[in-house]
Amino acid sequence: MTDRPALADRRETPTVYAPAADSALLAGAAVNQVGTDDVVFEVGVGSGWVANRVAAETGARVAGDDLTLEACAKAASRGVEVVCANLLDPVADAAVDVVLCNPPYLPTPPEAEWDDPMEAALSGGPEGRRVVDPFLDDVGRVLAPGGHALLLVSTLTGLDEVRAHAATNGLIAEIVREEQFPYERLVVFDLALE
Ligand SMILES: C[S@@+](CC[C@H](N)C(=O)[O-])C[C@H]1O[C@@H](n2cnc3c(N)ncnc32)[C@H](O)[C@@H]1O
Repeated sequence: MTDRPALADRRETPTVYAPAADSALLAGAAVNQVGTDDVVFEVGVGSGWVANRVAAETGARVAGDDLTLEACAKAASRGVEVVCANLLDPVADAAVDVVLCNPPYLPTPPEAEWDDPMEAALSGGPEGRRVVDPFLDDVGRVLAPGGHALLLVSTLTGLDEVRAHAATNGLIAEIVREEQFPYERLVVFDLALE
């Protein structure tokens, strides 16, 4: 026996992350910092709402990727230049002025994993950093001189741990935006190479 809903009851389960408070916090930080001539890449575009807003409000070229076909199709239908890929794999060295990322950041024990597209959007693995850590390991490689990254995480993800992992990759992490919710605080880290 399982307490999971039957497959038939899951047909209406959304397959693409709908823009939420975290999306808005990241987009708000980005439009403040992105210049018209910047090349911007968003890891995990989801519906494409953030990429689309940043492009519309700054005039910058914004491309992105996502792991799921459903998200790539949705973002493409919004006019976002998108490729289905993992993290920063499609990006050449030193090619990007501003990297954006609102990753799956919620700590999720193995027994709570559902193996569906929304799990890819929300689950950060047991400690919340399953996607954050490899992102931090590679993001410095793609930054153009003077470039930086905006990474959204939650206090549930472990802010000290995120800072420490960034530091092991030579990145300085500074909080540029935050918002308090009942069970967590969302923050946007600005990451730049030392
Ligand atoms: C929290 S949602 C954010 C979506 C969108 N950026 C927003 O802010 O509304 C995280 C997104 O990252 C995608 N994702 C998860 N792991 C990824 C990976 N390794 N590489 C690329 N995208 C990934 C998920 O499919 C999901 O669309």
